[in-house]
Amino acid sequence: NGAMHPWTGKSSEVFSPICVKTKDGLVRKRIGSYPVCTEKESMEALDAAVKAYDNGRGIWPTMSVADRIACVEQFTQKMIAKRDIVVKLIMWEIGKSFADSQKEFDRTVDYIYATIDALKDLDRDNSRFQIEQGIIAQIRRSPLGVVLCMGPFNYPLNETFTTLIPALIMGNTMLFKPPKHGTLLHYPLLEAFQSCFPKGVVNTIYGRGNTIVPQLMQSGQINVLTLIGSSRVANELKKLHPKVNRLRAILGLDAKNAAIISKDADLDLAVKETVLGSLSFNGQRCTALKIIYVHRSVATTFLYKLSEEVSKLKYGMPWEQGVVLTPLPEPQKPAYLKECLDDAIAHGAKLINPNAGETKESFFYPAIVYPVNAKMKLYREEQFGPVIPVVPFDDLEEPIEYIIGSAHGQQVSIFSNKTEVISSLIDPLVNQVSRVNINAQCQRGPDIFPFTGRKDSAEGTLSVFDALRSFSIRSLVTTKDTSENKA
Ligand code: G3H
Repeated sequence: NGAMHPWTGKSSEVFSPICVKTKDGLVRKRIGSYPVCTEKESMEALDAAVKAYDNGRGIWPTMSVADRIACVEQFTQKMIAKRDIVVKLIMWEIGKSFADSQKEFDRTVDYIYATIDALKDLDRDNSRFQIEQGIIAQIRRSPLGVVLCMGPFNYPLNETFTTLIPALIMGNTMLFKPPKHGTLLHYPLLEAFQSCFPKGVVNTIYGRGNTIVPQLMQSGQINVLTLIGSSRVANELKKLHPKVNRLRAILGLDAKNAAIISKDADLDLAVKETVLGSLSFNGQRCTALKIIYVHRSVATTFLYKLSEEVSKLKYGMPWEQGVVLTPLPEPQKPAYLKECLDDAIAHGAKLINPNAGETKESFFYPAIVYPVNAKMKLYREEQFGPVIPVVPFDDLEEPIEYIIGSAHGQQVSIFSNKTEVISSLIDPLVNQVSRVNINAQCQRGPDIFPFTGRKDSAEGTLSVFDALRSFSIRSLVTTKDTSENKA
């Protein structure tokens, strides 16, 4: 609660996806433990955040923007000093390659500084007076209150800070629950939170979300829910809030991003982008490509090239040079992926590449599945893992219909060498998803771009600028213009 809470004695063990040999065989390595909050302790943390906000009269929401930025800058300096340990913990806790763990850390620091710069611009705008119809207005950006922030396991540092930092900068106070896989890596930053922000501004709570979070929502004292995770969890949590119409939700949720490979596409480029888009960090990205539509006339060549490209990917331990495929942090994931493959095979699909779907320790070897059809789980479910479902099509209307009918609407990739084909796809697709990528995989960055989704894929918008707007409200201070030269 702004100060370290004494440990009550209950703890949760943390196991790495990286396995070690023991007398019982190969098991996930135990890498630490964290204290688990009781329901009472998490409510105390909520009280601390509510008090620090104090209905907008607390020290943090009333502090000048420049002073709040100074706190965030001081925090960031301390965070940078912990880079080595945080990067190692990302790697050990979620099995992300060392190179990608470094990228995640550095991208987060860049995002913080870009957010500070964006706020300076926004603030300059806000201090400008606007005169219309004899009224002078100053538009201010005010905080919203207490934010409950929950990040995902796949970007436990970056996506948490993508919401936490802008929310703080705008003057909100914070309850922050790290993801189950991705808790330890926040430990080295606790002291920095404690020393750089006033008491009660950032309150970290540990434990199982389903035991400590519902009561926080039921309290009605959470003003903003920000969660990057599953649509189901977000909907369940929102329903618990007694005044849901007063709750602002900034959510990054499920996605089933499609690629459309037209018959005139550069197949080498499409294959390269499909492999990266589907399999970076083992496909555990909300922006990953999760279903590939390929024109039937080029399907055989595409699959052949795709299989070759997949077999070139290095799989191994996260610290190995050039590794792409690494151990999966969710222990139940290989069984789920296997179930998807069995279901696809039962409905007539084949596994195209050698070693597809083989499991070893916590690895799952990527599987290309073809031809996928509407009866299969892989057609509609977000696999969030290293499986590439490929659907043949004869007419471009087929993938368009799929995207229109989907519950999700984050991104799409289109591959074609013909301007007229690309143009004919952009208009129908841009009304279905929030980003259309031409001859490129789906991705979130550059982080300065708005990041959102339609339908069940998101609520609110993130990015350097949009997050500042999302975690604040515009308030006006107006006065009548009594000067001689009225506008
Ligand atoms: O998991 C969702 C992330 O925001 C994806 O970000 O496209 O940069 O990997 P990325």
